[in-house]
Amino acid sequence: MSSVSRPRRWRRLLIGVVAFATVLLLAVGGGVTWIYVSAAVSTVGSTKFSNELAIPPLAHSELRPDGTRVFDLDMRSGHKEFRAGQVTQTWGFNGDYLGPTLRARRGERVEVRVRNSLQEASTVHWHGMHLPAAMDGGPHQMVAASDTWEPQWTIDQPAATLWYHPHPHGATEQHVRRGLTGLFLLDDEISESLPLPRNYGVDDLPVIVQDVKFRGAELDSGHAIFRDVGFLGDQTMVNGTLTPYRDVGDELVRLRLLNASTARVYTFGFADDRSFSLVATDGGLVEHPAALDRLQLSPGERAEIVVRVRSGERAVLRSTKLDAGLDFWNGRFAGGDDAFDVLELRAAATLRPSPELPAMLAPPSTPDGSDSVAERRFELNLSGINGQPMAMDRIDLAVTRGTAETWIVHNNDGMPHNFHIHDVQYRVLAMNGAPSPPALTGPKDTVFLPPDATVELAMRFTGPADPNTPYMYHCHLLWHEDQGMMGQFVVLEPGQSAGKPPSHHGH
Ligand code: C2O
Ligand code: CU
Ligand code: CU
Repeated sequence: MSSVSRPRRWRRLLIGVVAFATVLLLAVGGGVTWIYVSAAVSTVGSTKFSNELAIPPLAHSELRPDGTRVFDLDMRSGHKEFRAGQVTQTWGFNGDYLGPTLRARRGERVEVRVRNSLQEASTVHWHGMHLPAAMDGGPHQMVAASDTWEPQWTIDQPAATLWYHPHPHGATEQHVRRGLTGLFLLDDEISESLPLPRNYGVDDLPVIVQDVKFRGAELDSGHAIFRDVGFLGDQTMVNGTLTPYRDVGDELVRLRLLNASTARVYTFGFADDRSFSLVATDGGLVEHPAALDRLQLSPGERAEIVVRVRSGERAVLRSTKLDAGLDFWNGRFAGGDDAFDVLELRAAATLRPSPELPAMLAPPSTPDGSDSVAERRFELNLSGINGQPMAMDRIDLAVTRGTAETWIVHNNDGMPHNFHIHDVQYRVLAMNGAPSPPALTGPKDTVFLPPDATVELAMRFTGPADPNTPYMYHCHLLWHEDQGMMGQFVVLEPGQSAGKPPSHHGH
């Protein structure tokens, strides 16, 4: 016979269960708290700015007798010492990491001979470029390993800072993260006649911002727990240079900012909160320079800013906390609480004088919505756009060549998203029902959508029509895109109907 009576035994058992549950709860709670606390990163104040900023070289090109400007891009694997003594495996165009800056003028015919020297298939997409769908480099224009692809088109859009990157369906995040990214600059009569800083690498600096993380010598591409946005790094680099500085010798410096990160949203500003002038957005020059002291850029967005430096000073470009109405959970795990010292500009003791910025830059090049022939709605969720994940053989919508449309896009999720449309630049008519803020008044192809935000976009599809080859629209948080937050549209002649693209994403 047991000496412990029945009620006592029950009580002991109960105490045991409660104690065990408490310990478990504390452990889980403590674990989550630890994950939460350690999820925020900051390099503010601890960045040494010890490496001179690399400037991607301008790509060499050949002029054919018919006037076509021909570039060569070779996608290849390589290795790079981001940190002294640590050799990291990378991918790049024509080199170990990133790619050369392509540059062409409005009206020019260009051809890019793309060679894929990687071990796997990929694509090269010209982000922001207006061009025929078959030249777009989206998931339908796969280039097999060891194969080449030679798209050709005529540059027919305003001067702008565009970029190029792979777009293979389901693997874009990883291909971009390994280093396949470059700039494609366009010039036109307006950009060439304005007194803006435009000496490439001198007073006109490309600033390709990426966040990275290393595991040993290698790039770490893993997604940490609770990171619904995809990969987030714990430090930034510019043009592939960690803790970068750049000597500048002019009073005014133009920075062509590209957020080439796969998921991170930056809020750029200077450490001393000085104001700077926004002169261009994704698709080119704004009408008038806008004075700002903060500028949000989500993945894929570009902005050109002009900043004034004082002789002998060091001006630090920084990214601060994200103000996007994220709750404490999403704010933390989407990287919204992170801060980075991005780039230090070291001004010479004597600076070359720069002309004042012109008051007028370029006339608007996007429609104002008044002649839109259709209004379409897009609900963004990680699980898909308008409730459907991307399907390679499904055309989601067709537009008519020559017409303008208004697209109303709503972020239906608790996490940040953005919205990119291929082939066109659009005007942000409204953000949450209000006129768009100064940072969004220029031509755009990618726009940030905080949770529950709604944007109204107006764009014109000028063709050419191709019923069988779609363009993409998608979230440019690349893991979201890979998960299927993407849809396809075709441009048709009046009366034409859409074809059916192949479901393969092979060769
Ligand atoms: Cu920057 Cu669909 O891409
Ligand atoms: Cu694009
Ligand atoms: Cu997204």
